Amino acid sequence: RISYVVEMREYLYKILVVGDLGTGKTSIIRRYVHNIFSSNYKSTIGVDFALKVIQWGPDLIVRLQLWDIAGQERFGNMTRVYYKEALGAIVVYDITRPQTFEGVTKWKKDIDTKVALPDAWGGGQIPVILLANKTDLIGEGHGQHANPTELDQFCNENGFLTWFETSAKDNSNIEEATRHLISAILKLE
Ligand code: GTP
Ligand code: MG
Repeated sequence: RISYVVEMREYLYKILVVGDLGTGKTSIIRRYVHNIFSSNYKSTIGVDFALKVIQWGPDLIVRLQLWDIAGQERFGNMTRVYYKEALGAIVVYDITRPQTFEGVTKWKKDIDTKVALPDAWGGGQIPVILLANKTDLIGEGHGQHANPTELDQFCNENGFLTWFETSAKDNSNIEEATRHLISAILKLE
């Protein structure tokens, strides 16, 4: 009889979820963590937390601590405190409201000026992905698909890893987007 001892590794990653009011941050997290969606809008006050435990491989568990930061907080002075020790971020805009895309660069700048990777990881910018949310509404005549070339270029110029179109309502692309972000962080380990 041969018995195996598997050495399990476990990483805890703090991830920020930011973006303007009502873009769908809380809905994306609730879909991702609890697989539920509600069309009722209850604006987040301050910050909320959620934990997602992912069996990444046979010997690796990743715990994502998601910090759901109220859109309102861009005008407050608490983000520096909330961002502390984050290792990645998700910036969300609402494809049906173009003005929320203007918020994207503001949130990205806020992140880049207030948080950095640990020194042991080189101290650079934390990995950030961009989500174009509420794509289910395109079928109902609201908003339109992103121009991939334009959004690729925008990500390049503004230091985003990449972008995804998502829908919290339809559960589309949320898993893929978070996997992409986690992979990027794991590469830094
Ligand atoms: P704040 O906490 O105020 O910053 O907002 P938020 O970004 O957390 O937005 P929230 O998730 O509360 O969603 C705002 C509204 O948009 C709610 O009515 C949601 O039901 C709706 N919503 C969020 N995601 C989607 C989506 O993918 N599709 C559709 N159709 N509605 C969505
Ligand atoms: Mg919210």
